[in-house]
Amino acid sequence: MNTTCIAVSNMRPCCRMLLSCKNSSIFGYSFRKCDHRIGTNLSKKQFKVYGLRGYVSCRGGKGLGYRCGIDPNRKGFFGSGSDWGQPRVLTGGCRRVDSCGRSVVVNVASDYRNHSTSVEGHVNDKSFERIYVRGGLNVKPLVIERVEKEEKLREEEGRVGVNGLNVNIGDSKGLNGSKVLSPKREVSEVEKEAWELLRGAVVDYCGNPVGTVAASDPADSTPLNYDQVFIRDFVPSALAFLLNGEGEIVKNFLLHTLQLQSWEKTVDCHSPGQGLMPASFKVKNVAIDGKIGESEDILDPDFGESAIGRVAPVDSGLWWIILLRAYTKLTGDYGLQARVDVQTGIRLILNLCLTDGFDMFPTLLVTDGSCMIDRRMGIHGHPLEIQALFYSALRCSREMLIVNDSTKNLVAAVNNRLSALSFHIREYYWVDMKKINEIYRYKTEEYSTDAINKFNIYPDQIPSWLVDWIPESGGYLIGNLQPAHMDFRFFTLGNLWSIVSSLGTPKQNESILNLIEDKWDDLVAHMPLKICYPALEYEEWRVITGSDPKNTPWSYHNGGSWPTLLWQFTLACMKMKKPELARKAVALAEKKLSEDHWPEYYDTRRGRFIGKQSRLYQTWTIAGFLTSKLLLENPEMASKLFWEEDYELLESCVCAIGKPGRKKCSRYAAKSQVV
Ligand code: GLC
Repeated sequence: MNTTCIAVSNMRPCCRMLLSCKNSSIFGYSFRKCDHRIGTNLSKKQFKVYGLRGYVSCRGGKGLGYRCGIDPNRKGFFGSGSDWGQPRVLTGGCRRVDSCGRSVVVNVASDYRNHSTSVEGHVNDKSFERIYVRGGLNVKPLVIERVEKEEKLREEEGRVGVNGLNVNIGDSKGLNGSKVLSPKREVSEVEKEAWELLRGAVVDYCGNPVGTVAASDPADSTPLNYDQVFIRDFVPSALAFLLNGEGEIVKNFLLHTLQLQSWEKTVDCHSPGQGLMPASFKVKNVAIDGKIGESEDILDPDFGESAIGRVAPVDSGLWWIILLRAYTKLTGDYGLQARVDVQTGIRLILNLCLTDGFDMFPTLLVTDGSCMIDRRMGIHGHPLEIQALFYSALRCSREMLIVNDSTKNLVAAVNNRLSALSFHIREYYWVDMKKINEIYRYKTEEYSTDAINKFNIYPDQIPSWLVDWIPESGGYLIGNLQPAHMDFRFFTLGNLWSIVSSLGTPKQNESILNLIEDKWDDLVAHMPLKICYPALEYEEWRVITGSDPKNTPWSYHNGGSWPTLLWQFTLACMKMKKPELARKAVALAEKKLSEDHWPEYYDTRRGRFIGKQSRLYQTWTIAGFLTSKLLLENPEMASKLFWEEDYELLESCVCAIGKPGRKKCSRYAAKSQVV
């Protein structure tokens, strides 16, 4: 029998929702043991009064049960049903049909949705044919603890990497206690230490690895949220594991975060979009009410409601999609991305990003601090980092989305956005000597569709540092573009990721790397790499950061040096066939990182000091270093992680061809940028 039992009970201090049944399936997971506890039904009124907080929890070790608690901030969205592949729109009130029935699930879910402060559902029903149906699909069950039989086999065969790589490095025991072969090559002591630390940062949920904590400094008594698994921080860890032939942790991470995505989340009675992925999550082991001596693991996500500044984790979903594709490419496990729940997860994220708004540009409009720089740094609007990740996620989705009647509109929207976005960035974000000179001579107040100075940029905005800094050859993509505003700062992640994803034209990509080489002393210096250049100082620092004492000039996000950016630099160099440049940067890092205890970031203009408030034993510093090493050793694997120009995207367009007054169709123009 394949059923799902739902019971809702009311407990103190918060309500608990218990879900599990023998052989049941929820979100594609199957559970071995039935938890028969059935509580009282939770009325619609109660949902309203208390709001709900959802915990995914697991008790008693591997796959024994599935518990979901709820607290005043979050709600879970649960579902299972038999309408495999049948889109259903969730409607109706809070009604229980039977003690073990789907309709309870459906109604609970719809009840949440009815309380959403968003109207997005209606908007997107039109555009993307009601992709909201989620748990209502009877998805392929997955056993969490040991995901694939093939993987098991591989491990038994001595943990030969999924792609024939065999550089497993570690102690006598691997991630899951399995035997690790001695590596094929000599690894440095620094690398050995890094692997040990990375493995030590692994977080288990119900006995299975699901991610890595942001930092694990034993001497840090106030880790704040650095003891959580951050989505963006986990990416280099995931790549290190994948490149080392270990796919399980990544698969678990992708599936568990997918569950978290579907929870309805509220911040002060407002619900952000359903596809939102958390910034981070924590695995907590909590005592079970009324069961002395018993405890359970729970997943507790943070969607920004606890984050300093309440910043929205816009990049999380984009990273999730990018990682899903990387997992597929590096393991060859195409089954995961094809799953109904995974496909739905991709669509929910895209849906959030592609929703119509008031935007005039194809770039994604976000608030300050919505990415790696997750505090006020004057990057609200259309920051390059988000656009580059958005573009990459769209390219990933284009490869991964299964095209059928219900997705064809979404796929068309993805294609259109890709070409419009690349045209916009290539044309308007690009600066080099010639372009800056053009801006310097701009006329302002032009009113017409033919305006040259489309964004009404006042030439006085060109900062004095840039006039001297911009090299004769080489250029870069600026940090942000808004009406009458160009942020000329160089943001490293956005520029690197533009190279990796081919958001820039082939020539632009080459020029960006040339600029980094040319400006090595400013952007790399003693420690790769500056998060942005230059720092905001004096009045600018006061006004733009709000006098942030953590983001003082040349510290942290404000011109600090972040070793984690090394892996993205390595990937970009490898794509542009300049691995020697990456090697130079890796060697610099290797010389200092271990000695300095793997800091999160470095301070000062040339990155000489360990950052003022820098965490030590920062996992993405460690993982970024290891990933860089592995990429350099395995160019073939690296090539699976970047994209070349997609000429198909530059081809035919339906947008404005033939419309009078619209001279430049973006696809046509995009093509002419390249060819
Ligand atoms: C800081 C960083 C952010 C990172 C987090 C965990 O908040 O700004 O990018 O994800 O720490 O390392």
